[in-house]
Amino acid sequence: MAEFPDDVQTDVPPKAAQLSVRNLWKVYGPSAGAVTSGAFEQMDLEQKLSHVRDADHFVAAADVSFDVAKGEIFVIMGLSGSGKSTVLRCISRLVEPTLGAVFLDDTDLMTANPRELIDLRRHKMGMVFQDFGLLPHLDVVQNVAFPLKAQRRPRDARRAHARKMIELVGLKGKETAYPHELSGGQQQRVGIARSLAADPDLWFLDEPFSALDPLIRSQMQDEFLRLQKQLSKTIVFVTHDFLEALKLADRICIMKDGQIVQIGTPAEIVLHPANAYVREFIGDVPLANVLSAQDVMGPADGDGKDHPQVPRSTILNEAIKLFDDGTVTVDVIDDDGRVIGALHPLTVIRSLYHDDAVADI
Ligand SMILES: Nc1ncnc2c1ncn2[C@@H]1O[C@H](COP(=O)(O)OP(=O)(O)O)[C@@H](O)[C@H]1O
Ligand SMILES: [Mg+2]
Repeated sequence: MAEFPDDVQTDVPPKAAQLSVRNLWKVYGPSAGAVTSGAFEQMDLEQKLSHVRDADHFVAAADVSFDVAKGEIFVIMGLSGSGKSTVLRCISRLVEPTLGAVFLDDTDLMTANPRELIDLRRHKMGMVFQDFGLLPHLDVVQNVAFPLKAQRRPRDARRAHARKMIELVGLKGKETAYPHELSGGQQQRVGIARSLAADPDLWFLDEPFSALDPLIRSQMQDEFLRLQKQLSKTIVFVTHDFLEALKLADRICIMKDGQIVQIGTPAEIVLHPANAYVREFIGDVPLANVLSAQDVMGPADGDGKDHPQVPRSTILNEAIKLFDDGTVTVDVIDDDGRVIGALHPLTVIRSLYHDDAVADI
């Protein structure tokens, strides 16, 4: 099993990936299997792409590989049609991948037979979709308890557990309501409660908040983060909204035309966009709300003087309030109160604008 790359913070030991996706392809067309067999394996990526397209087939996912660590929120972001849902559905084999491997811990999902797959989906995976997917003739308790029915738990136990999930997502009092009696936000809370009912290891969410009004969407994002703090699921979250990705993700995977363009933490992506496509998304992002002190700090001053201090994860918008006429250094401290770096007005400005724009300051 591959080790999770230790590319973010060198002081954190590498975590084992809970979910590993390796060289995943989804090709649509009448002979997708034939087109991707034989000499295909020996071709480089560009040759593979043109080979498939020359054969009048469509590449929805091309050589997609990533690892998701236990407890991580991994967000797949990209424009509509970039292949996000395809990748998500290939992982659970709701869509059959053309090539590639997917491991959940040490289980190879590609070789699971239909019975094993149903079992994995019932016990290990929770899914939330944009259109909520509730059953209209069932009330809230029945909708949430529905996945437990397949697990053959007794009726009373199912209902008791469903009520707990309903409370968890803030819908206490709505147990006997039917979907049409609920707002969009409330319906998606039911969808979330249902997806969590079987206590899955992997939680998949495909644009869960995209159909909601901006204010409700923002509340649901906060709720989602609150839930994850409590539950520590391993999450793959799909969105076309870059700001949503920045707010929710531990790491973001940006897709374009079925391919991964960049994988990184929100800070890595906004500070070092891989190309012009990624830079476009960053355009209007309020960076001072995205970046934290540790993302932009320089080496500690070491001048023996006392400076104001901020914890490493303080967002810049807060940290810069400590600068005033007499203060040009703010120390950044770790969880134990040790000084690990320093902020200066110029480094902060440089990080908020693109370096080249302020090179002459
Ligand atoms: N069953 C299918 N047959 C042919 N093309 C498909 C099929 N499903 C999806 N596609 C195409 O694959 C591409 C990626 O789709 P999708 O993964 O749904 O994108 P996203 O979720 O990023 O909007 C789209 O261009 C879509 O039209
Ligand atoms: Mg989609």
